[in-house]
Amino acid sequence: MQKDKAYQEIQTALKGVLSTSVPWETAMVSLIALVKEKLHYVSWIGFYRSYGENLWVGPYQGRLACLEIPPGKGVCGTAFQQKKTLIVPDVEKFPGHIACDAQAKSEIVVPVFQKGKIIGVLDLDSHQLNAFDHTDQRELEKILTTF
Ligand code: SME
Repeated sequence: MQKDKAYQEIQTALKGVLSTSVPWETAMVSLIALVKEKLHYVSWIGFYRSYGENLWVGPYQGRLACLEIPPGKGVCGTAFQQKKTLIVPDVEKFPGHIACDAQAKSEIVVPVFQKGKIIGVLDLDSHQLNAFDHTDQRELEKILTTF
């Protein structure tokens, strides 16, 4: 329930920010700042965007992250390749998980589409096991359609 309330607050604040047309970077950093402020179980949030062959880290908040991820590798590359959200309750059980932060225990990765084409992913990590559920999936997917 607390999670629902936090997402409501994020949605309301974002509506204000995105009420006029803003550049894509502005929308990204605003979402990142709001999630970091409202969802205390999130240790890292950021975008990986497709450039050339690979995904490259974009705006984020958290500890220094891996810069480059090939499609199909790690949770991010797999979600990108499969074009679907992946919830990983325990990263140690995900074959090929890329550990940027040794303390990260669970993760959700949501694909980002623009005009129907996948352009990258949004990645959230937590230091808690099993931090992300279908509320996170539903709310993050909904937010990303408003970008
Ligand atoms: N764990 C991710 C790599 C990115 S970091 O978590 C910021 C993965 O397995 O793709």
